Amino acid sequence: MVLRKKLASPYSLLALGCADGTKEALLLKKLPKPAYLLAADTNLSLARRAARRLPGKQKAFQKIDLNSAFQISSCLHVLVHVHEYPHLPRPRLFTLFGVLPNLDPLPLLRRLARKMKRGDFLLFSANLAPGKSGFAGARKVLSQYDNPPTRRWLEMAVEAYRPKLPKGRLQFGVYPDPQQKSLARIEARWMAGKKAWIVFSSRRPTVSQVETWIPKVGLRKVARFLDPRGEEGLWLVRLGKT
Ligand SMILES: C[S@@+](CC[C@H](N)C(=O)[O-])C[C@H]1O[C@@H](n2cnc3c(N)ncnc32)[C@H](O)[C@@H]1O
Repeated sequence: MVLRKKLASPYSLLALGCADGTKEALLLKKLPKPAYLLAADTNLSLARRAARRLPGKQKAFQKIDLNSAFQISSCLHVLVHVHEYPHLPRPRLFTLFGVLPNLDPLPLLRRLARKMKRGDFLLFSANLAPGKSGFAGARKVLSQYDNPPTRRWLEMAVEAYRPKLPKGRLQFGVYPDPQQKSLARIEARWMAGKKAWIVFSSRRPTVSQVETWIPKVGLRKVARFLDPRGEEGLWLVRLGKT
């Protein structure tokens, strides 16, 4: 495995947006146990569960908002404070699985790149629009969202939302991302008369879009793994020019 060969020991694992750490647990079956493990998610109880399940000689968990550069910096210092160590062991491996569809991807990658040092790695996943055109590709996977179970789940969320939304209906579609017009975003909108509320959205970049973001934020591709249908990709990147 590419990462196992490249990752010097001891290293720190910083699992960002990790939920309960299921994916990191699979990854860590293939890697040596990290000297330090930080599980960080906006949902603190999930981050706690991840820290419990994942291996690590020293561990911490933390609530984080990845939209905030300040919170990312404080997170990197949490282990230092908790365990009174002067530095986190380097290299550091940052993981970011399943987060890019929900947050503005280019600024997020830039915030993370700014916190990385030489020798660190970032391993991130992206849900992709298969093929060369983001919009056509996103329409191909639309039925993975626009289906009876997802509709029921979203209708329940709309029902529970306060202040109450007027009577209406769900409509799924592919739209340009408001921050990056060439990026396709699948949206579920609650339509009531002429008004629309976006109740769900998921960005679906193409492979080449992801690969333009990487150098733009000062990172360099080390390896890429694509699923055979081209609907999901995993990138291993580090600081530096291609
Ligand atoms: C789709 S889930 C992916 C979870 C897990 N990494 C996986 O791949 O199965 C997105 C995760 O990002 C977290 N998240 C959403 N917004 C976040 C934010 N602004 N800062 C940190 N975590 C966030 C959610 O709580 C959730 O655990």
